[in-house]
Amino acid sequence: MTMQAHERSPGEPPATGQVTIPRQPTGWPAEPPVLSFHDVDMVFRGGVHAVDQVSLDVAPGELVSIVGPSGCGKSTLLRIASGLQAPTHGSVTAPDDHIAYVFQDPTLLPWRNVLDNVALCSQLRREPKSERLRKAQAAIDMVGLTGFEKRYPNQLSGGMRMRTSLARALTLDPRLFLFDEPFGAIDEITRERLNGELLRIFSGSRFAGLFVTHSIAEAVFLSSRVVVMSARPGRIIGEFAVPFPYPRTPRLRAEAEFAALTGQIGECLRGGAE
Ligand SMILES: Nc1ncnc2c1ncn2[C@@H]1O[C@H](COP(=O)(O)OP(=O)(O)O)[C@@H](O)[C@H]1O
Ligand SMILES: [Mg+2]
Repeated sequence: MTMQAHERSPGEPPATGQVTIPRQPTGWPAEPPVLSFHDVDMVFRGGVHAVDQVSLDVAPGELVSIVGPSGCGKSTLLRIASGLQAPTHGSVTAPDDHIAYVFQDPTLLPWRNVLDNVALCSQLRREPKSERLRKAQAAIDMVGLTGFEKRYPNQLSGGMRMRTSLARALTLDPRLFLFDEPFGAIDEITRERLNGELLRIFSGSRFAGLFVTHSIAEAVFLSSRVVVMSARPGRIIGEFAVPFPYPRTPRLRAEAEFAALTGQIGECLRGGAE
């Protein structure tokens, strides 16, 4: 999918104040990005200028986080990436299909058990029953919910509901994973456990992921790159490469380099919050 809007006129100034870093650590093979925003603006009808001159690439296997103040256009960017919304300016390249979208609200159907909730997308795609059960079970195993297939949403903890939502997304065989503050309503310990699970799922895959979060520590722990956005109109005011190798363990969060990087990102965020 490529969405185009009119090009920025020649003479218009480029974005200022951006921190430029290499997009990928040197030595990485140059792979075409799965998701690419090029000079994207979003101005809503009524005049709200939500997103300003955003350019960003996400390569296969890469998990990029976005942090920024409330209302700076993070969810808008995800909607644009998913094709739900067209930008008013600039272009976006993303897969036509195989996009998984995970929200803070796990949006499970209360009258369906875990297995049937996870199988929902395959059912809507009219895949044969044996195939959708096979896919659902594989996804349930992947998120660590084996044995809970027959439980209903009201019999699950918040973390288990989120795992169910992740499993349902995995049945789409995603090429692109979009996360909109998925763990924002989950307690700290469960959230850290889910972060570990997500990294494990990502490590065996070639998805590209764009992860919106309010937690700088979560962004650093998960990502190879953290993008910082300013207050509205949201523009990229910083990009930080996260140098810690994968696989990452929870101990990383206690290391001095981890604290130093989260501190730096926090400073950048506060600088752009006015
Ligand atoms: N459909 C819409 N129409 C008008 N304004 C919108 C619409 N969607 C979002 N906005 C506004 O755009 C801004 C960015 O919203 P959003 O992307 O949800 O921010 P964030 O996810 O960073 O908190 C907000 O001011 C919001 O009120
Ligand atoms: Mg949002």
